[in-house]
Amino acid sequence: AVERTLSIIKPDATRRNLTGKINALLEGAGLRIVAQRRIQMTRTQAETFYAVHKERPFFGSLCDFMTSGPVVVQVLEGENAVAKNREVMGATNPADAAPGTIRKEFAESIEANSAHGSDSAENAAVEIAYFFAGADIVG
Ligand code: CMP
Repeated sequence: AVERTLSIIKPDATRRNLTGKINALLEGAGLRIVAQRRIQMTRTQAETFYAVHKERPFFGSLCDFMTSGPVVVQVLEGENAVAKNREVMGATNPADAAPGTIRKEFAESIEANSAHGSDSAENAAVEIAYFFAGADIVG
């Protein structure tokens, strides 16, 4: 089925001017960028967005990292978009990511791993609504 998912190009990638290269990999996989905005996340936004990880030891560092520079939030649309985006991103830890994936090619570490993607259609709906109004998404 045609789905939508939330993608974030993280500060390690925007810092190294990799937005276009990452978008090329997403588009090359058949995902359409139907909304996109470059923002500086606030601490509150980062903490709320990653609230499910609140108890994890890396939570504070993750929120520091996500607010350390601009991010690009985007909505991707396509057949099985949630799974397809996760395939293109590769494993969370770049050391485990397959060749040709965003994280294998670009990530610096398990934290500075260049991209985020929703992990389910249910979470995608919540994550998309956190950053975009319906009228901002043009399919
Ligand atoms: P993301 O897919 O955005 O979801 C949670 C983020 O936490 C993850 O990517 C990484 O940027 C970061 N992170 C840092 N350390 C870890 C870890 N040990 N396991 C999972 N995620 C981690």
